[in-house]
Amino acid sequence: MAEQRTPILEVRDISKHFGTVIALNGVSMSLYAGEVMCLLGDNGAGKSTLIKTLSGVHKPSSGEYLFEGRPVDFDSPRDALDAGIATVYQDLAMIPLMSISRNFFMGSEPTTRLGPMKFFDVNKANHIAREELAKMGIDVRDPDQPVGTLSGGERQSVAIARAVYFGAKVLILDEPTSALGVKQAGTVLRYVAQARARGIGVIFITHNPHHAYPIGNRFTILKRGRTLGTFTKTELSREEMIHMMSGGDELERLEHELREFEDDQAVNELREGVHEENQTPLKPEVIQRSAEIDEADEI
Ligand SMILES: Nc1ncnc2c1ncn2[C@@H]1O[C@H](COP(=O)(O)OP(=O)(O)OP(=O)(O)O)[C@@H](O)[C@H]1O
Ligand SMILES: [Mg+2]
Repeated sequence: MAEQRTPILEVRDISKHFGTVIALNGVSMSLYAGEVMCLLGDNGAGKSTLIKTLSGVHKPSSGEYLFEGRPVDFDSPRDALDAGIATVYQDLAMIPLMSISRNFFMGSEPTTRLGPMKFFDVNKANHIAREELAKMGIDVRDPDQPVGTLSGGERQSVAIARAVYFGAKVLILDEPTSALGVKQAGTVLRYVAQARARGIGVIFITHNPHHAYPIGNRFTILKRGRTLGTFTKTELSREEMIHMMSGGDELERLEHELREFEDDQAVNELREGVHEENQTPLKPEVIQRSAEIDEADEI
């Protein structure tokens, strides 16, 4: 990435406290137009809190937030959306019984007039929805069909197409592929790539290194509210990323549990997997940073 450009979005040293819970602690990250930045980290690492801060749901407790180079202070998700930051949550906020085109336009419906009355312009909405979805390679036969008849992957795709149509500059996706099968996840990843090709900056949260690696340009790794750093693809091999995301402790615990069930075959397979992953040791600076976070948490 051309680091001389101004990031479309940047946070510097931001923290977010919920009472005594420190969900984010001095996190810095940036996003450029036309890139996919993957946000990785264990459960509870602070990924959702970070993107909710970016999308106007939370206000940071401290730190700077810049959008297109200027400090911003969003009061609501609507403010962030108006600035061009669209967020697609995993539980999507779509209405299953309403049509695809209704869901596509929700809150911004085209209208037609009949005398003094305004009506939802169904034909126009259907036409635009079908066309916009077609641009993303989604073939909807009938935009009037309820969105509930679409698969999870197709629904995610409608949400992405909607954000693109309404001019999002930044698209934030919180685990869009976690509930999807391999094929559907592939479809969603393709739309993410298309959004990037249109110059949108995408922040993509996932637990799955096999989804993150092919699509990501850069990777920011969170650990218990802090960042382990941001890496470009050339700085982080696929194996390193898998290793980093499948924390050694967890594998040990899993191995222990499998032993209790006397499942020798599973234990052996697990071991072989771990052995393979251990062929690629982590970067010394990452190991050190991770140890620093562990140490700081012990105080
Ligand atoms: N509204 C809240 N009030 C209190 N604590 C919160 C709140 N939101 C998040 N937290 C805490 O902040 C920490 C980070 O949570 P967050 O949801 O950001 O993690 P995450 O990385 O998205 O995890 P996951 O992968 O499980 O979705 C957790 O310890 C969580 O319990
Ligand atoms: Mg989360």
